[in-house]
Amino acid sequence: MSVTLPNDPARDDVLAGRPALWLNPGLKPDGICDPTLPIRSTEVAEAEDNWRLLAPVLKTCFPELEATNGKIHSPLIEAEDLREALGYSDPEYGRVFVKADNDLPVAGSIKARGGVYEVFMYARQMAEANGLLSADDDINLLTGDAARKLFAQHTIAVGSTGNLGLSVGIAARALGFRAVVHMSSDAKQWKVDRLTRLGVEVVQHNADYTTAVEHARIDAEADSSLYFVDDERSQMLFFGYSAAASELATQLTEAGVTVDDDHPLFIYLPCGIGGAPGGVAYGLKAIFGDAAHAFFVEPVQSPCALVHMMSGAKDLLSVYDVGLTNRTEADGMAVARMSAFVADVMKPLLSGVFTVADDDLFRWLWHAQTAQSIRLEPSAAAGFAGPDFIVKSRQGRIYLNRHGLADKRSQATHVVWTTGGAFVPQEQFMRFMERGAALVKSG
Ligand SMILES: Cc1ncc(COP(=O)(O)O)c(C=O)c1O
Repeated sequence: MSVTLPNDPARDDVLAGRPALWLNPGLKPDGICDPTLPIRSTEVAEAEDNWRLLAPVLKTCFPELEATNGKIHSPLIEAEDLREALGYSDPEYGRVFVKADNDLPVAGSIKARGGVYEVFMYARQMAEANGLLSADDDINLLTGDAARKLFAQHTIAVGSTGNLGLSVGIAARALGFRAVVHMSSDAKQWKVDRLTRLGVEVVQHNADYTTAVEHARIDAEADSSLYFVDDERSQMLFFGYSAAASELATQLTEAGVTVDDDHPLFIYLPCGIGGAPGGVAYGLKAIFGDAAHAFFVEPVQSPCALVHMMSGAKDLLSVYDVGLTNRTEADGMAVARMSAFVADVMKPLLSGVFTVADDDLFRWLWHAQTAQSIRLEPSAAAGFAGPDFIVKSRQGRIYLNRHGLADKRSQATHVVWTTGGAFVPQEQFMRFMERGAALVKSG
């Protein structure tokens, strides 16, 4: 299929694979209350309650959660040294923070927020349905002999570019489920190796992510003992991610940040299929309303959310349909077609999408480690382009003017969501650093 994208200031750059900022014409004031949305914001609070309920069993399964009492959460770091290195030292950039999901315990990426949530919620439902757990029981019964025996008879499957597979695989194995992860050809070997060591069965497809998910779904349909975590459709994943918003809101308050019409909050979220950034953005809009401006970030050759949302088409568009290759070193974002569910939800809520070149990912990865010891994988560095796009680019200025924010730049807060990296093996990380250093040196 060859498709013509509508006339838009970002279109030519997008089609040529050059970095661009697209502004979403569908963004609506008070979009979170839009009656056409397929979900309700009360479900975010329900997810927060569920996370609280699961905390004791998470602490039992993952000793690294001892210190946080079972909470899977990440630090918010002010980019004091890093902003200098990135060229953001001018006061017109307001305050710049890193939300360090690269350091998230259990799975080392933002995918822990969705994958761990869905697996543990499924386990809870299964235990309840089999009379092994009731509302008043200790949730730690999920780790008891009876539950483990039950879970061992069931399989949890997922399709993944890597990190969702890690989070689902780790969670499933911790409870004693059999786990199968269908990996796309973009998946990095170290992620495959780590899963295999955990006893997860890895099926490697010589195909892209969408195809890996389709295979996993077909397998699931043929086997009733198999539960499929469906990254393209799962609301459970989405709401698991959404609970991160209240965590950030608390951290911003602690850092003395005000968010309101005069103090805008810009959030930059790396996007693959859209579930993780969509869930977080939705949660933030539910808390801060129009004062939160959520932007997705994608590689120049894999901007699936950008091309689909820009097209305005009813049927999902892929990056191949507009002549892009879906080739990128950012494995977590190597996705050709976004989730239809997330596209529907984000239509009135998303401020825009910008794209970044792979070389810049390695430059930012190097700067983050060198300036503030923030250890990233390439996908996780994508958001660092955000402040520059908003403050300096033509499209960014149009956005600020449109929203009456042009004279409020110095009162703004920018949050770059760094989505993964803690688990990258040292040898691999050093290769990333070498590539980044060479690029920084060459200018
Ligand atoms: C490090 C990292 N960042 C961002 C994403 C994007 O998440 P999603 O595919 O839910 O949009 C992924 C997905 O695997 C990831 O691994």
